[in-house]
Amino acid sequence: RLLPLLAVMMLVLTGCGQDPFLSALTPRGPVAEQQFYLIKLSIYIMMGVFAVVMVIYVYVLVRFRHRPGQTGIPEQIEGSHKLEIIWTTIPLILLTILAIPTVKITFDLAEKFPTDDALQVKVIAHQFWWEYEYPDLGISAAQDLYIPTGEKVQFQLTSEDVIHSFWAPALGGKTDTNPGMVNAMWLQADDPGVYKGKCAELCGDSHTLMDFKIVAMDRPEFDAWVEKMKEPHVSSSDVAEGEQIFADSCISCHAIDATQGLDIPDFAPNLRNFGDRVVLANYFNMDDETIAEWIKNPEKMKPGNLMPGFADELDDQQLASLVDYLNTLSVK
Ligand code: CUA
Repeated sequence: RLLPLLAVMMLVLTGCGQDPFLSALTPRGPVAEQQFYLIKLSIYIMMGVFAVVMVIYVYVLVRFRHRPGQTGIPEQIEGSHKLEIIWTTIPLILLTILAIPTVKITFDLAEKFPTDDALQVKVIAHQFWWEYEYPDLGISAAQDLYIPTGEKVQFQLTSEDVIHSFWAPALGGKTDTNPGMVNAMWLQADDPGVYKGKCAELCGDSHTLMDFKIVAMDRPEFDAWVEKMKEPHVSSSDVAEGEQIFADSCISCHAIDATQGLDIPDFAPNLRNFGDRVVLANYFNMDDETIAEWIKNPEKMKPGNLMPGFADELDDQQLASLVDYLNTLSVK
């Protein structure tokens, strides 16, 4: 019975390890590396405990099995000081071995907390999307978080509604976002790439769909991205119809100016760089058909989100125009 269970566990572990941008087992930054060391340490200790317990278990099963011709009750033992001391001391030693590096790394990471010169990002969690403000850069973004590589990024995390948790496993451990409270942490991405993140706290109907991406790029590229985000979107006449629909139906909730409303949490995701999104609504395929489906009936795709559906208001042709316009909201 144990073998299939172990096989499944191995599969789960290797499955998680395969995606280098999602797994805590493939750290891609200094915070994740130190935490990975603790993960390994606790797994080795657990494996040792498991092996010893199994050996004793099998030995006892065999040694004290029922033998033919055996009658009556075996010798009864009540309490053993020696045994109790042994099975109290061993866990105490193991927990101490685990506790010392855990406390040390916790303090070490706190000591390395970046100064205020480092890039500041304010993460505001919403049901079920992520808002990012860069107070020093004067821009705001949503869903995909852009950061420079090779430097510490300081995070201030909070929530607008319920408790969520911000977790990009390959970069570092999760931090809760609590309404009315600000938590701090720091992360660093060593290499450019798109790191996957998840909301790691059950937060409502669409908790499982509350993913996010961290797009790490080298400093010059990041600076260029910031400059483009600051520029107002200039629309082209090709998408004039879609722009008009957006102005009539969408702009009361969705800003398309990244420099707007920095001091207050956004009501809906800022769409300044919507066309650059890695995925739609932090989970779905970023193609025209899916975007149109989303606008028609967001509730069906992501239950419990606040966006109203436009299935009754917009016909297919209008939807197509709107999608064309949305795709032009790009800074690339
Ligand atoms: Cu937000 Cu789970």
